Amino acid sequence: MSDTSFLTLDKLSLAYGKTLAVKDLDLEIRKGELLALLGPSGCGKTTTMRSIAGLMTPVGGRISLDGADITRVAANKRAVGLVFQSYALFPHLTVFENVAFGLKLKGMRGAELETKVAAGLKSVGLAAFAGRKTPELSGGQQQRVALARSMVMEPKVLLLDEPLSNLDARLRLEMRTELQRVQKESGVTMIFVTHDQVEALALADRIVVMKNGAIEQIGTPEEIYNHPVSSFVADFVGFENIFAVRDGKLTTANGAVALSKTLPDVAGLAWRPRAISLGSGPLAGTVRGVSFAGGTREYVLETPLGIIKTEVDATFPAYALGAEVAFDLPVEGAALLKRFG
Ligand SMILES: Nc1ncnc2c1ncn2[C@@H]1O[C@H](COP(=O)(O)OP(=O)(O)O)[C@@H](O)[C@H]1O
Ligand SMILES: [Mg+2]
Repeated sequence: MSDTSFLTLDKLSLAYGKTLAVKDLDLEIRKGELLALLGPSGCGKTTTMRSIAGLMTPVGGRISLDGADITRVAANKRAVGLVFQSYALFPHLTVFENVAFGLKLKGMRGAELETKVAAGLKSVGLAAFAGRKTPELSGGQQQRVALARSMVMEPKVLLLDEPLSNLDARLRLEMRTELQRVQKESGVTMIFVTHDQVEALALADRIVVMKNGAIEQIGTPEEIYNHPVSSFVADFVGFENIFAVRDGKLTTANGAVALSKTLPDVAGLAWRPRAISLGSGPLAGTVRGVSFAGGTREYVLETPLGIIKTEVDATFPAYALGAEVAFDLPVEGAALLKRFG
């Protein structure tokens, strides 16, 4: 374990019966870090969180937190908080009682309890709602109660499993900002699970992209967004045009195409729609789709490489469906993929 790691997963393997859901996972999380676990449904995000929370015993490997091995420590002795997508609040209790619940279990009473809960509610902007029953709150407010309930326990690590996925678009944005503020103000180490790349990019200090129970890439949002290491990550973060490279050529199901420039020694190249130059270049395609997207126009081209998706400034002269258009795939605008498939 390195000196800077606060929470360490060391060759962690997790299984349901005989099925391995997470294999030999190594991860080091720094104190105060906001880490996002990003990946498609079923890749093992929730399973990993459950093991950190102590709700699941690993079949292999170790978990340590703040210098102590917690692999076999009971969930309620770990100082790990968990906030779910479904808020799991007690509907018959008030907001105050929900937030006070864990503290009471620890034996806290009286003025100390009142002060703690009030501070927790204030930190999530719910000071005025202490007396309400939770079903009388909006989804966003319920999620804030769940957050306050975890935060008052002063966890060493707070785990949030898709906490925003039940909220509508506007509330999600609001809660995202709220989460970021609470995390920065409290300095709590946070792991945030999402299948939404936009959320991960916006929130996280670092992103862990998972695939099939293993880590595919770890990096800052900029690294993941600009330098995906594999076709899987590129696809996940919005590179619409992803090609294998073989013998110095772009290779697709339709055959191989040489670009004007010599290709670097990589397994694949990927372009975002914006990185493709339209209107000139050595390649050509037929416009099969056009959509106006406000500031830009998106084109779907049928080409010898298969379908190419491009996006150009809306001020650029528009092409009609069926038009033949020249284009270029500039190598300097491509992400260089170390792995393909
Ligand atoms: N209770 C369970 N019993 C058996 N298999 C499970 C159970 N929960 C999850 N799995 C399987 O483990 C894998 C990882 O699931 P999960 O961690 O929930 O993924 P994610 O949270 O990334 O969507 C999936 O293949 C899933 O089907
Ligand atoms: Mg999940």
